[in-house]
Amino acid sequence: MISFVWAEDENGVIGVNGHLPWKLPNDMKRFKDVTTNHPIVMGRKTFESFPNGPLPKRLNIVISKNVDYQVPESVVLINDKVDLKKYVQSDEEIMVIGGRGIFQLFKDDVDRLYLTRIEHEFDGDTKMINLDYRKFKLIEKKEGHMDKQNIYPYTFETWQKI
Ligand SMILES: NC(=O)c1ccc[n+]([C@@H]2O[C@H](COP(=O)([O-])OP(=O)(O)OC[C@H]3O[C@@H](n4cnc5c(N)ncnc54)[C@H](OP(=O)(O)O)[C@@H]3O)[C@@H](O)[C@H]2O)c1
Repeated sequence: MISFVWAEDENGVIGVNGHLPWKLPNDMKRFKDVTTNHPIVMGRKTFESFPNGPLPKRLNIVISKNVDYQVPESVVLINDKVDLKKYVQSDEEIMVIGGRGIFQLFKDDVDRLYLTRIEHEFDGDTKMINLDYRKFKLIEKKEGHMDKQNIYPYTFETWQKI
């Protein structure tokens, strides 16, 4: 099963200058909870946006067209979507974590959406792709808790393919 995991602002913005436009530790925690112990699949630019290298307790799978792209030993590099099945089990939940090009690549395969809606407008250069939500059913919606570290209103949503 393929799942998408991402956070977007009111205008669908997901990134700016190679990183996230916001600081929202509670969303980082949700991301960790949702993805830990699952393979994560990401574009080369998203991989390069991690400040501390590969994310622990998850098989990190990076997609690049560059066959010579160097990744640490624990990381899997694939150059084509079809190679993904060599590295994952057929019954696993595979977490596609972006960015835009990678969401586009798996758009027709996705079964579940883990979305964080941040109710704020940010400057950005990367937006989420358009998804047809009529094909999904909202199965969970949870309002986020705000505090000194989490200053924007946000909601966690989970959608399942009908
Ligand atoms: N808010 C969120 O939830 C979220 C999630 C993820 C990312 N982001 C943000 O989004 C930005 C990065 O996203 P992005 O869309 O610019 O880049 P990206 O999707 O992370 O990476 C793009 C790269 O992936 C590779 N790629 C894409 N399609 C491919 C294909 N069909 N076959 C093989 N390789 C392919 C290419 O690598 P090569 O150039 O090496 O060939 C391409 O340059 C950052 O700002 C990041 O912080 C935000």
